Amino acid sequence: MTTAPLPATVKGLEGIVAADTRISHVDGEAGELIIGGYAVEELAGRATFEEVCHVLWHLAMDGKADLPTQAQLDALRQEMAALRTLPPLVLTIIKAAKDAPPMDALRMSVAALSLDDPNPKDESMAGNLRRAKTLTARVPTIIAAHDRARRGLDPVGPRTDLPSAANFLYMLHGKEPDPHAARALDTYWATVIDHGMNASTFTARVIASTQSDMVSAVTGAIGALKGPAHGGAPGPVLDMLLGIQTVDRAEQWVRNELAQGRRIMGFGHRVYRVRDPRAEVLSRAAREMIEAGGGDKALYDMATQVERIVLRVLEEEKPGRQIKTNVEFYTALVLQSIGLRPDQFSSMFAAGRVGGWTAHILEQLANNRLIRPLSAYVGPRGLKYVVKGR
Ligand code: ACO
Repeated sequence: MTTAPLPATVKGLEGIVAADTRISHVDGEAGELIIGGYAVEELAGRATFEEVCHVLWHLAMDGKADLPTQAQLDALRQEMAALRTLPPLVLTIIKAAKDAPPMDALRMSVAALSLDDPNPKDESMAGNLRRAKTLTARVPTIIAAHDRARRGLDPVGPRTDLPSAANFLYMLHGKEPDPHAARALDTYWATVIDHGMNASTFTARVIASTQSDMVSAVTGAIGALKGPAHGGAPGPVLDMLLGIQTVDRAEQWVRNELAQGRRIMGFGHRVYRVRDPRAEVLSRAAREMIEAGGGDKALYDMATQVERIVLRVLEEEKPGRQIKTNVEFYTALVLQSIGLRPDQFSSMFAAGRVGGWTAHILEQLANNRLIRPLSAYVGPRGLKYVVKGR
């Protein structure tokens, strides 16, 4: 008996639609990004991170894209602020992981956040929404505490009177946050909160689809985000800019990288064939930060010129591939402008994206079906159990 042939394998699942979602949409040809029904340009710089979290979580659960009323926003802020404090065991893990890279420390610490779940058996939507708020509230606390542990400093406990981005900067530096830096970080988190069926979001949905728990799904997503093909690029972008040093060296530097078979960080995308719309939004946020007296104007000016040179060289060396600027290029400049170091950039990305991951998990659970694709077997068959030399 012959079995029906399988459809052709799609390497990298390119072009495969894995879910219906209301959370975000990416049109890579048009350069359009919709987050919770709003164009990214409409939200960025206006809506706070917590407002966008509210929109995405409610869209996931009941399909409504309403911005929160002031009373709802105040209530959400208070609730999330009260959830920021970490259980003592997580602080112990952070100390033990003080020499680990920030993404590894974040993954280990998030994995332990199930320990003080007041009701781990509660699989209701309300229970999972509370977990979404807890995870989103605590990721910045973990990142700040780990950064301080690396510097030999004790953690600074969260404040309840500050919004998420401002509180993060307070916990990091232990002093009143600069309002311009808090605004730039808030814009960054609101901009990167979600982005279609990217690798980490898919990971989160796959784990959720097995009816595992939200902490496991977010822990897996952090692992997926860590790689340089996904969220690991902005640190190397800054290293690249610092390595180039001056604009007149940029062209030779880029040509040399390409000749060695290396990729230019901050350029190229699986979906976008035009400039990533987030690049513009974040370029503006970095510029505003510089105008407010922060950041490094010389570096920003150099980056804008390097961007043009890289695009021209890529067009010459990789004709027809449509490799354009991606979100990571200006992420590097925004995060650098608020005083963060390159090896913290991926975990900062996770602190924004956790809002989107948790929304996708809620959406998956609201209409779940186990995600279980097939594989095409190309290995040997019919081997006999005969071990050589026996
Ligand atoms: N520099 C040089 N060449 C590139 C780049 C780049 N940044 N990106 C793609 N290419 C080339 C490839 O070498 C390949 O060339 P070839 O046809 O001569 O072999 C061609 O473009 C197509 O590349 P693919 O690997 O098929 O593209 P894919 O969709 O898999 O890559 C990716 C997307 C991984 C993001 C890639 O562009 C890349 O590595 N960029 C650099 C790292 C980076 O910026 N990552 C952040 C991505 S944004 C995000 O996830 C948040």
